[in-house]
Amino acid sequence: MASRGAERRLARAAESGDIKTVEALLADDVDPSHGDRHGITPLMKSCHQGHIECVRALLAHGAPWNELDFEGHCAGEYASAGGQHDLVAALIEHAVQAELVLGVLGRAERASKVPNFSYLSKPVTYDGGDKLLDTNRDAVMMDWETPLMKRHAEAICAGGGDVLNVGFGMGIFDRCVREHPVVSHTIIEAHPDVHSYLIREGWGSLSNVRVEFGRWQDVVDAIITENDALPGGRTNPDARLFDGVFFDTYGEDYDDLRDFHALLPKIMRKGGVYSYFNGMAPDNGFFHIVYCRLAEAELARIGFKTQFEKMRIDSRSESIWCGVDRRYWWGETYLLPVCRLVDRREEEFGDPEDR
Ligand SMILES: C[S@@+](CC[C@H](N)C(=O)[O-])C[C@H]1O[C@@H](n2cnc3c(N)ncnc32)[C@H](O)[C@@H]1O
Repeated sequence: MASRGAERRLARAAESGDIKTVEALLADDVDPSHGDRHGITPLMKSCHQGHIECVRALLAHGAPWNELDFEGHCAGEYASAGGQHDLVAALIEHAVQAELVLGVLGRAERASKVPNFSYLSKPVTYDGGDKLLDTNRDAVMMDWETPLMKRHAEAICAGGGDVLNVGFGMGIFDRCVREHPVVSHTIIEAHPDVHSYLIREGWGSLSNVRVEFGRWQDVVDAIITENDALPGGRTNPDARLFDGVFFDTYGEDYDDLRDFHALLPKIMRKGGVYSYFNGMAPDNGFFHIVYCRLAEAELARIGFKTQFEKMRIDSRSESIWCGVDRRYWWGETYLLPVCRLVDRREEEFGDPEDR
């Protein structure tokens, strides 16, 4: 086992860009994840100074890209603070590749992972018309998101057709859908209080709206089973397929989002548009970008082309968060994902939008 002295030498070499010493110490199995008394790792020091060779060597020897110092900053933020923009891009690329193979981001969550039954089994409150709160007074949904929901709905309803929304919340997204001439509008909602509310509000009796009460995990599974019902692999002419899908649940994490993504090709028509509330790691700009790139890469593997539209949002005013236990958004930019399920014919003949 390497001594503390060797770990300190590694930290100094990483900070000064002494690649020979860094490589020699790593070859001697010195732990590259060891932080100093502030939790600052050799990788963070190299990133801040822009020593790309040292960064590469440290990452190749397993230095964790997602470690946080005692103030909650990661290596990507150190690179950014040091103005090392090429390094930020290289770190994002490394992080996405590592995630695709290992899934480090979700590892801690997965170890203790339970479905959001606890949230679903306790009451929620519609508070003052501008927020929906759980029993801890954490916000399930808030009114300031309205411009985001409006744009999500525009993207998803652009082609008309059959639209699916997972997670009703305050019904903001669903009200926006009503402004578009869609053929059908399905809503999946799992919380009994939210379901009662939406029924009281009359959503269950609108002519082209179908409300499915239950967790998406069960409801989508049932739709897929129905769609697969014909023997001999014949296409079911009555299959329930959607042209637009939106996903915005609560108390779920990236693993749930990934599980949902895996089902999309079975419930969507080619050319359809999918989007999700892009709220992963909102308090850490670097992790947030990694999540965006990761989702993009994973969606590409199942046939989606993703673009992120930049939207300015303003949730700074303290009064917005009054009565909410934990603020869940800080940034001024929202990256709105528009993911299109590519038609194979388009792949052969080119995207009509590119022609
Ligand atoms: C953030 S809110 C949705 C807000 C909505 N987009 C709007 O515009 O008001 C999340 C909703 O997802 C619901 N939900 C949570 N987990 C779910 C699950 N597994 N399946 C279906 N709905 C779920 C919650 O009860 C809540 O109503």
